[in-house]
Amino acid sequence: MCGIVGYVGYQPVVDILIDGLEQLEYRGYDSSGIAVKTSDKIEVFKAEGKLCNLREVLKPNVDLFKDSTMGIGHIRWATHGAPTVLNAHPHTCNCGNIAIVHNGIIENYKELREQLEAKGCVFKSQTDTETIAHLIGQKYAEVKDLTKAVELATKELEGAYALCVMHNDHKNKIVITKRNAPLVVGIGEGEFFIASDVPAIIKHTKKAVYLGDNQVATLTPDSFELLSADGDIIQPKVEILPWEPVALSKMGYKHFMLKEIHEQPDVVRNILFGKLHTPDEPIILDEVKLTKDKLKELNRIQIVACGTSLHAAMVGKYLIEQLCEIPVDVEPSSEYIYRKTVTDSHTLVVGVSQSGETADTITAIKQSKARGSHILIITNRPDSAMARLADSLIPVNAGIEVSVAATKSYTAQLMAFYLLALYMAEIKNSVEQSLLINLKSEMMILPQKIEQILSSTENIQKCARAYANTRDFIYIARGINFPTALEGALKLKEISYINATGYCAGELKHGPIAMLDETMPVLSILMKGCVYEKLLTNSEEAKARNARMIALTNSRDEKLESLFDYILRVPDVQEIFSPVISMVPLQLLAYYISEFLGKDVDQPRNLAKSVTVE
Ligand code: M6R
Repeated sequence: MCGIVGYVGYQPVVDILIDGLEQLEYRGYDSSGIAVKTSDKIEVFKAEGKLCNLREVLKPNVDLFKDSTMGIGHIRWATHGAPTVLNAHPHTCNCGNIAIVHNGIIENYKELREQLEAKGCVFKSQTDTETIAHLIGQKYAEVKDLTKAVELATKELEGAYALCVMHNDHKNKIVITKRNAPLVVGIGEGEFFIASDVPAIIKHTKKAVYLGDNQVATLTPDSFELLSADGDIIQPKVEILPWEPVALSKMGYKHFMLKEIHEQPDVVRNILFGKLHTPDEPIILDEVKLTKDKLKELNRIQIVACGTSLHAAMVGKYLIEQLCEIPVDVEPSSEYIYRKTVTDSHTLVVGVSQSGETADTITAIKQSKARGSHILIITNRPDSAMARLADSLIPVNAGIEVSVAATKSYTAQLMAFYLLALYMAEIKNSVEQSLLINLKSEMMILPQKIEQILSSTENIQKCARAYANTRDFIYIARGINFPTALEGALKLKEISYINATGYCAGELKHGPIAMLDETMPVLSILMKGCVYEKLLTNSEEAKARNARMIALTNSRDEKLESLFDYILRVPDVQEIFSPVISMVPLQLLAYYISEFLGKDVDQPRNLAKSVTVE
């Protein structure tokens, strides 16, 4: 997963490329680079690490490219080859006439590289992408036509790609194509903006064309020629983007992550708006396109997701099974796609994804769609590839999430599952009316409860300072908060690099307890409900092994004072909603630990916000 941009038009190109790359930094930040057409030749500039390094490389070269009006750019999340300048894109062919940027993975690049080396191509990098540059170079030498050369070369590629290609002979022409990777073209007046994602183009135009797989487009300042996968000229389908340009600002917060954590009360209000009016009225979820009869006939639900979205899906399983009595399987998309799964027309398949671009989940959804399942997508990006595969689409409307560590999108996904489960329970009549009313009332006051947590974070900050220098961390929980333990641990790992693991507490005694001693913090997510007493016992067992005990709790139980070294208190809440309330302090704990350790909170090492490779 990487981000690519391109521009052809009449404006100075470099600022447009750099600004576009900045909007795509969530896709990777291992290295960056641009190629621009100057009056003599294609000039390539690259830098290791974040975009600020590329800006420094460009500064002394302004005179070289000040009149350039065409170029391509790339921001990299390394897959093949270390994140060095040599491996940074753009890549060029031997003679330097072709320059390309690429997002995706070429699976047969080793074979292609061998063939190209045998023909005399000299490789400078370890990337799969350089293979494409040489291959297009070879084809161009044969056909002397850039579009044709791209068409021919891509026929030999296996894997995923979005490509922008330029050639020294063409002052004003970029050729683009894609397969299983996103690519959008913004349409201006006498100019085109190319990008992996909308944020890079939205401030220039709201008119856009999403390229389809295997289509090839040739762009000049005043023409857009689109070829279908079969090579026929087709009319580009122009869409109006449902986006407003947003200035991505931290609004006074030190990091985007902290800002996004604080946005959660509004995120909950937003998703409930128009769907839950009063506790006495039924949930309105017109987004679900299954008829009521079909919903009643469902005999199974499969949910696929990755990372944080997977943890939201695990809570979703608890909710749907508890309230709707339909069996639910939750599986990481990356596992789901490599085994035989059994579905029939009575199976609903749900994909959950903040970005809507996660390659594993897209593949899982495509497979289920091909088997005829109804596809319901829960995403923060209703304009994404995944959303376009949906039969039913629930947008979670959390707003752009910039921080790589997901926070507000998780809470929004949880809320989507509460709405879905209650909606289905109402249709199936699987829960007493009085309980439904009670649950809906509680759901309406969740934003205030989150606000209460956010209004006083001193104790969490103190706890973060006390535990920041630990090497390992264990989170334990039971029942509906087991996913909370996993997600709490994931947040800490991602942004502090502390080895954190979430366990269902009953499993502790089956092995992990061996790790406990006076150096190991154990954070127990001790929310009142059916497993409270059991978890208290598991916490006692950990304490007996001298672990450093922390409680996250809504209980006033006096026993807790002697059992725990630290107590993080949250407002009282019914057990079923405790995942929403208990996650907020865990996000904050991870945030403050990372900040205390001086880590890069918003862009932690080795990660990217959108994982578009399998
Ligand atoms: O965009 P998605 O929700 O599909 O992304 C899935 C994971 O890559 C994502 O949740 C990842 O685990 C985050 N960094 C978590 O903070």
